[in-house]
Amino acid sequence: MSKRIFDISWDQFQTLSLADKTPFLMQADGTPYHTLFAQQFGLGLLEQLALLANEIRVIAKTRSGTEFLRSQVAHKRAMLYFSQPSSRTFLSFVSACQILGVSTGEVRDTSISSEFKGESREDSVRTFSSYFDLIIMRTPEKGLAEHMAWVLSHSERPIPIINAGSGQDQHPTQALLDIYTLLRSFERSGGLCDRTVLFCGDLLRGRTVRSLSYLLTNYPNIRLIYVAPGPLQVGEDVLTMLKAKNIAYELTDDFHSAIPKADAVYMTRIQDEWDTTKGESAKIDTSRFKFGIEELKLLSPKGVILHPLPRRDEIAPEVDSDPRAMYWRQMRNGMWIRTALIAMTFGCENHIHEYFRHNY
Ligand code: NCD
Repeated sequence: MSKRIFDISWDQFQTLSLADKTPFLMQADGTPYHTLFAQQFGLGLLEQLALLANEIRVIAKTRSGTEFLRSQVAHKRAMLYFSQPSSRTFLSFVSACQILGVSTGEVRDTSISSEFKGESREDSVRTFSSYFDLIIMRTPEKGLAEHMAWVLSHSERPIPIINAGSGQDQHPTQALLDIYTLLRSFERSGGLCDRTVLFCGDLLRGRTVRSLSYLLTNYPNIRLIYVAPGPLQVGEDVLTMLKAKNIAYELTDDFHSAIPKADAVYMTRIQDEWDTTKGESAKIDTSRFKFGIEELKLLSPKGVILHPLPRRDEIAPEVDSDPRAMYWRQMRNGMWIRTALIAMTFGCENHIHEYFRHNY
């Protein structure tokens, strides 16, 4: 039974652990209402989402299927509030909305919104809720999506929020598409249990690393290897979470020795937009944390390479044509898993399952 977020004060809510916050964010059937962090997704829910995404991508192949999907939530509108740069996440959410017939509005530049006139974020978000039925938001601030979810749930027009990236903290829907890509990659070779996933790059400031590390802990016998230069090694909070869940992990700066042990390599870019002093990241030697032809030779023939994108030079373009390079497929998977998540948020997943059962 879900707890109700409108029954708890912000002060109380804030003090809860992520695990204890989760029941307040879910619908009575266990699917997410607000999607704020990766900890909301257990194995069962991940499986349900992947199944729904698989069905949607098949249904979307025909005109009649596309028309069916577009009729699902054609009465709903979504607001994309993106006050931080984005291409893929923004466009894949727009596409996901289009697939389900959800109309969209957007604010991407707060300098031309009323926030510029001094309106508080709380008031802006409440304004959006007057016109829309869902807010998808990306912000540079940790915890803002969470606070807004609480504010909206306590307003006279409560509507769901999906976190599309919150500062350096979490990026739950990126982690969902990463998991979906891994599940599809290993679908015919025994699944995602008992695998080794290697993260490489800026593991300290990359929010995708935190969210995906958490989701991976749902899979039995998962092993994680974090490869980074010392100053960018993964944060203590992630390690504490891994220890608490008894997950095997290794920290190293020796990329070449680690690659042969990996079933999946998750590359990330240096997140220098978070530098506190100008040029701070440029002083770190990142030359040994790049994936090129040499590294391809070290990767298992059945291994896969992922990247949340955008990339800079951490994956050489020559790697793109290797069948183990999954990052372009990973990006398209984002559209399908986000469609599945929006369908669940609006509660139309059973119609889609039914349509699939009758037609395929
Ligand atoms: C990531 C992000 O925004 O955290 N990008 C994305 O959403 N695909 C990764 C990054 O910017 O490096």
